[in-house]
Amino acid sequence: MKIIKYTLITCMLALVTINILMPASTMAESETHTNLKKSQVGYGRGGRVQAGSTSAHAEEPIQPIPITFDYDRAKVELGKKLFFEPRLSKSGWITCNSCHNLSTGGADNLPTSIGHKWFFGPINSPTVLNAKFNLAQFWDGRAKDLQEQAGGPIANPIEMSSKHEIAVSVLQSIPEYVQWFEEVYGAKEMYGSGKIDILQVTDAIAAFEETLTTPGASFDLWLKGYDNAISASEKEGYELFKEKGCITCHNGIGVGGNSYQKFGLVKPYEKDTQTLGRYNVTKKEEDKYVFKVPLLRNITLTAPYFHDASTWNLSEAVTIMAEYQLGVSLSDEETTKVVAFLKTLTGDQPQITFPTLPPSTETTPQPNRD
Ligand code: HEC
Ligand code: HEC
Repeated sequence: MKIIKYTLITCMLALVTINILMPASTMAESETHTNLKKSQVGYGRGGRVQAGSTSAHAEEPIQPIPITFDYDRAKVELGKKLFFEPRLSKSGWITCNSCHNLSTGGADNLPTSIGHKWFFGPINSPTVLNAKFNLAQFWDGRAKDLQEQAGGPIANPIEMSSKHEIAVSVLQSIPEYVQWFEEVYGAKEMYGSGKIDILQVTDAIAAFEETLTTPGASFDLWLKGYDNAISASEKEGYELFKEKGCITCHNGIGVGGNSYQKFGLVKPYEKDTQTLGRYNVTKKEEDKYVFKVPLLRNITLTAPYFHDASTWNLSEAVTIMAEYQLGVSLSDEETTKVVAFLKTLTGDQPQITFPTLPPSTETTPQPNRD
């Protein structure tokens, strides 16, 4: 806690210093930009100085999604190919993108996902967008990070249903992949033998996922000082979100994703008593029905809502939260305003160039439907 406070204070001091040092003309310029369209803001390497505009609402409990450039391009490109690689699945048909569709907010918009042999999974698929801001991965947090997570679905019998060895041998049989892995991980790290290993596969996928952030939401522009970026009723919705207490669980960069909380805190949630959540990891009684608080970024794109997909309707999701987590009932007008605020959290979606994958060879293991 102390470290966080200290870091915050240091950051704030840095911002103040930058503001003081910024030439007056730059300050005036950023003020006249208040009415800029969102697509014009925050883009281009070495473009705007962010610090000057961030300070406007630096004390808010939600922070804008940072715009990052320093990626390992070759690794990300390889990870993207793997994210779209159907041959990592036993059927040769399912990809990460099947259930985390980047055309639809990084989720599949199904109550529960469809996996190998049309098996239905037990739980709603969360979005991969901004997943790097989660304190851990999965609803129950059982994977500590994106890399650890990525190994799961490949071998999960009702998801991609492959085996890590088979997935690796598919890649190993395709000379283009061998070359790309060598370029990214170096012949030496591949034990000098030109062998791909599963940790490289998951590392590359995780590197790609780290680029899947959605900056530029109108709420973020407001946080950065563009006062007209959100309307009066969206702003009122945000005030309600804070006043009613949603903010205690949904805060930070992801507007969630940074704590585990019980679903049914003030009133037991009885629609799904089978899914035990965090208890599966810790085996502690008090962790029954405790879940990782979901990110509310891009929430309008990722219906249905809750781990059990119990509603398709965002207003209803808000009402359920108020009732079960806070013990309050919101008027229709209040709900409408909170939903209006939630809509301002939709950011710029990652622009993906669909990858071209190299063909299989004679030694590539063939797809298996069984
Ligand atoms: C058959 C559907 C399916 C496939 C294929 C699939 N996933 Fe998932 N993914 C899910 C479901 C369902 C969950 C939630 C499971 C849970 O929490 O128990 C999930 C969770 C995740 C999470 C955690 C997000 C969070 O907020 O906790 C990430 C990240 C992720 N998947 C990435 C991937 C990657 C990378 C691949 C490809 C290697 C992949 N998924 C393949 C369905 C799928
Ligand atoms: C005590 C902590 C807590 C509070 C307070 C809280 N939430 Fe949540 N919220 C959660 C948890 C935990 C979940 C995941 C529940 C589940 O599906 O198991 C969640 C889920 C959601 C979802 C669905 C997200 C998705 O991707 O499925 C929305 C929307 C949401 N909350 C909005 C709100 C709003 C609006 C408020 C205030 C009225 C609020 N929450 C108050 C903890 C909280």
